[in-house]
Amino acid sequence: PASISVKELAEVLGKKGSDLVMALMKKGQMLNINATLDFDTAAAIAEDYNVILEQEEEKDILETVFAEEEDDEKDLKERPPVVVVMGHVDHGKTSLLDAIRHSNVTKGEAGGITQHIGAYTVQIDGKPITFLDTPGHEAFTAMRMRGAQITDIAILVVAADDGVMPQTVEAINHAKAAGVEIIVAINKMDKPSANPDRVKQELVEYGLVAEDWGGQTICVPVSAVTKEGLDSLLEMIILVAEMKELKANPNKHARGAIVEAQLDKGRGPVATVLVQNGTLQVGDPIVAGAAYGKIRAMTDDKGRRVKKAGPSTPVEILGLSEVPSAGDSFYVAENDKQARQVAESIIAKNRENMIKETPQKVSLDDLFSQ
Ligand code: GTP
Ligand code: MG
Repeated sequence: PASISVKELAEVLGKKGSDLVMALMKKGQMLNINATLDFDTAAAIAEDYNVILEQEEEKDILETVFAEEEDDEKDLKERPPVVVVMGHVDHGKTSLLDAIRHSNVTKGEAGGITQHIGAYTVQIDGKPITFLDTPGHEAFTAMRMRGAQITDIAILVVAADDGVMPQTVEAINHAKAAGVEIIVAINKMDKPSANPDRVKQELVEYGLVAEDWGGQTICVPVSAVTKEGLDSLLEMIILVAEMKELKANPNKHARGAIVEAQLDKGRGPVATVLVQNGTLQVGDPIVAGAAYGKIRAMTDDKGRRVKKAGPSTPVEILGLSEVPSAGDSFYVAENDKQARQVAESIIAKNRENMIKETPQKVSLDDLFSQ
């Protein structure tokens, strides 16, 4: 978070530091000249002096070090779409994905609630599509936000017997904020109480007007139980993905996002990552926030050991120094040394920010010794 000291602010305002300290004291704000102010406080003070303070974008160290060069058109190859499945709790996201994968993940999940983002690639008529599952539970807002940010298409699952609910609305907002196209899957159509028209009606309020109602939003009635509508849903996903002409350059160092990560007793930090551009390889030195390391082993979504992972591929990696945060970007460095140095500068920066955020106590002595 951006911050500024009283002294620096005084300079910006063209005042003497001690004058600003006195002026603030008169208003009941006891701050010494070295006290740091967060942006909002500093902006409010500046406003009293008719100065509008603007925040300078603090560029991420990683973004600067690993600034991405634009790919040459000739290096770009088609890549699979990344599709996030979002919606209210229990509306059937995991069940729909299971039905698509012909597997059965729901039964294995603790209490049937998705605890983390699962990431899988599914071949549909020989075309790969990468799906990310997200939890609908209200406690997982950040995961839904991340999910929306790293994807091309969002499948909004709405149970036909329940309609638009709070996390449905939240998912719509995340997808819109991330500029991701929404395809609505009206699920549980097998239920006698299913009312797809009501769902469409409710969605209008959030700017999603179904195609058969004269709007632009693709709505597909489906059932994870009877598998009705699944083929149409997949067709729509492929259609929308094709229109987007998604491309990436597999012939360069990888970069992407941490989807989830945890500490495994035997294996150390384990992270599921989504490669967004380039190709990730075993042995690559990588950095993700303050975590760094050489990739020791890589497993695909079916649990198989792999040596490489290209664009839009989710893989689990081993070899990081610590557990990165889900949502962090990861980058492949030039060599081990660079990876370590960059991570160390992030650790130093984090420490510096922490010190800055610690409130400073001010005594009267401090005030008058300026
Ligand atoms: P969270 O991950 O907890 O947000 O839930 P979810 O959206 O992944 O829902 P999940 O797939 O776990 O399904 C919730 C319940 O709805 C389960 O009992 C499913 O069996 C049931 N269910 C899911 N899809 C259908 C469907 O199409 N028809 C019927 N009748 N039940 C369904
Ligand atoms: Mg689920």
